[in-house]
Amino acid sequence: MSVSKRASESLSLTCPMFGAFSQTLNKMYNADTNPNGALNLGVAHNDLLQQKVFEKAKACLQLTPNDLNYGPSEGTQELRQLMKDFFTRHFHPYYPMNWTDIFVHTGAGASINQLFLSIGDPGDYCLIPTPFYGAFEYDVSVHTGIHILPVNLHKELQDMSIDPDQLESYYQGATSEGKKVTSMLITNPENPLAKCYSKKDIETILAFADRHHIHVVFDEIYALSTYSQFLDEKTEDPFVSVLSLPYKELIDPALVHVIYGLSKDFAVNGFRVGYVVNQFNGPLKQALRRSSAFSYLSTITDRLLCNMFSDTKWIDEYLLENRQALAASYTRTTEFLKSEGIDYIAAQAGPFLLVDIRNKLVSATSESDDLLWAKMLDGGVYLAKGSVFYIGQPGFFRLTFALPWDELHKGLTRFIKALQ
Ligand SMILES: Cc1ncc(COP(=O)(O)O)c(C=O)c1O
Repeated sequence: MSVSKRASESLSLTCPMFGAFSQTLNKMYNADTNPNGALNLGVAHNDLLQQKVFEKAKACLQLTPNDLNYGPSEGTQELRQLMKDFFTRHFHPYYPMNWTDIFVHTGAGASINQLFLSIGDPGDYCLIPTPFYGAFEYDVSVHTGIHILPVNLHKELQDMSIDPDQLESYYQGATSEGKKVTSMLITNPENPLAKCYSKKDIETILAFADRHHIHVVFDEIYALSTYSQFLDEKTEDPFVSVLSLPYKELIDPALVHVIYGLSKDFAVNGFRVGYVVNQFNGPLKQALRRSSAFSYLSTITDRLLCNMFSDTKWIDEYLLENRQALAASYTRTTEFLKSEGIDYIAAQAGPFLLVDIRNKLVSATSESDDLLWAKMLDGGVYLAKGSVFYIGQPGFFRLTFALPWDELHKGLTRFIKALQ
């Protein structure tokens, strides 16, 4: 055998999301090489304040001679302290945070992988409610040997509420098949549903995880991209971080972990920055410190982030402006969709929403989704198919709307044309 058993297991994993994305690569728009290519309304990215972020990042790229040396692999103390202040301002932790609770990695995906390497063993199972971000297949499983177990907890696709009995029966079903469930992964705000879990649902999840003594990981990468409070001023920010709850009262706190990253809320997915936050698990912190050398942020990025995040006024104003820009773009997009008779699932957070085109299809099957998807690509627009997020029913596509209106409008028009 030319590679290890572990590597060949990783190679046998399939990830429909990357599979679909790889088919788009030479068809995508590029101003120089493919000006007639497909506009990207499929990847979760946010270009609304790109120029502002770009200018700030450029100004913050001020190195010191010491940045030429090795830094601490889990992130500098300066950065971790700044991030502690940032989490304290925006995630409102119930238990005061310490900078040593935060581990920095090269992206949220890397943070998930590093965390699972330390909380699960090969052959273990991780419960993930559907629909979910398709790349979890890799983030959770590559080289960890942990299997994912998709579970459908929502009565209707748009309904985020969790039925505790159903959750329990999935767990019991898996256990009776000999599957050892040792963790659960929740995305809040959700991708692709673009909605938040309620405090009650988070408490349900914590109580369940405690009952079975399993780890519970909250991926909160879209936490600060909520905007529904700007659409209806009578409503509040729908996001509740698990960190803001007195979770020690519900669960062994060593089992609670948060993932965050800068790719989405700060629209810098190329910078590759992710965080694991854990407040009460000493051995895990030691393990994360040991493995962090393999997902080690460059001192250049560390310095850049220190310079950016020390300007708290800029950070907080940017976040507010970004939410307002998301709300405005969501409103414009949904008005366009309504005028074209396209249904969608009302969203609260993030740069995308799910369109529901079941009523536009003669027959809604996974084959018809594939054909339509290919037709869209040929017609110059890329949307993400629902199936890559484990949406069980055909007719759903995830559409990224956090783009300048000219580009977005062109993409939406091509999408409508492909439906005809
Ligand atoms: C829910 C979720 N988690 C993690 C990631 C990965 O983020 P990163 O670019 O920081 O690796 C994504 C990216 O789309 C995501 O949607």
